Amino acid sequence: MTKKYTVTPWEVSGEIDYAKLIREFGVKPLDDKIIARIEKHTKDLHYFLKRKIFFAHTYFDTILEQVEKGNKFYLYTGRAPSGPVHLGHLIPWMFCKWLQDKFNATLLFQIPDEEKFLFNENLTLEDTKKWADENILDIIAVGFDPKKTKIFLDTEYAKTMYKHACRVSKKITFSTVKTTFGFTDSFNLGQIFYTSMQSVPAFLPTILEGKTTYCLIPCAIDQQPHFFLTNDVAPKLGYPKTATILSRFLPGLQGMHQEGKMSSSVEQTTIWTTDTPEKVRNKIMKYAFSGGRETVEQHRKLGGNPDIDVSYQYLTYFLEDSNKLKQIYEDYKSGKMLTGELKEITIAVINKFLKEHQARREKAKNIVEKFMLRD
Ligand code: TRP
Repeated sequence: MTKKYTVTPWEVSGEIDYAKLIREFGVKPLDDKIIARIEKHTKDLHYFLKRKIFFAHTYFDTILEQVEKGNKFYLYTGRAPSGPVHLGHLIPWMFCKWLQDKFNATLLFQIPDEEKFLFNENLTLEDTKKWADENILDIIAVGFDPKKTKIFLDTEYAKTMYKHACRVSKKITFSTVKTTFGFTDSFNLGQIFYTSMQSVPAFLPTILEGKTTYCLIPCAIDQQPHFFLTNDVAPKLGYPKTATILSRFLPGLQGMHQEGKMSSSVEQTTIWTTDTPEKVRNKIMKYAFSGGRETVEQHRKLGGNPDIDVSYQYLTYFLEDSNKLKQIYEDYKSGKMLTGELKEITIAVINKFLKEHQARREKAKNIVEKFMLRD
């Protein structure tokens, strides 16, 4: 069977076979054994782990070893500011918050404001700065501890980062970058260099602490190719290998098979963090791909298919109560629950989530400076 999906930091498309992707990328599944080991330390498990929304890792066992030795580790994640934030972006950030709370870990949050400038012809550095300011409000709204979270723009923290990026770049050849990312000779110099900037924060824990300190990166799996390069370089520069914990993608409203992950480029089928309750309602009612049957009679008789139903998929990401989720799954599958009813539940869950997020986003405006790291 031919492959019908693509996963790179620059493109995610098609219906992804995640088990296959684990093998192709050479990462490890988050199996029950390692999940039990996490639970030993955290006491409870985030539903993202129970539901395998975070499903793979590299070197996560080395982080647990550090914890078991009583050493601290850092968290690192990022967001390239190219537009407003949507629900899909929040998934790794929510998981970072949980890890920060459970392990009392410092979080480094990179805003590579040069990334999308270099990769998108239409964006100026003024645009990406504007989006950075907006996106930071969403990041803070996730609820990170200001004492343990440092947010930085690459262009503002460059004095510290640049020399480390140079050290990284000296260890990576053009041909490696070409094969890792599929770049051709027509790519610009900034694009070729960029991965060095994304590696640096993985080394900052050791640099900032002045002693070997491990780093864990929660992110969507499309970012992993960068961190393969990071780990090629790490031992050469005297840093520990960085660990990653990797998530699936939240589908767009039309579903993975039709439009892939939720994406900033498809306006109508994306739910933005600033959407009003009416907008959310309209989008879900109009666009959410349904696993229901043609007619009510057929649905009652044959039941729906929650596994392909996008409203149901969203509940797996945003409805914490696993008993309720299970009940909904069964009721929809048996035909007891109709698509309209399922959509109503999803609308209510997402609107409740967004109402709280938006209130925290508003408050974030007054506390931005508490989080910022600049040279
Ligand atoms: N490249 C990421 C993006 O396109 C941004 C990013 C920078 C990032 N550093 C990261 C994402 C670390 C995850 C982890 O949005």
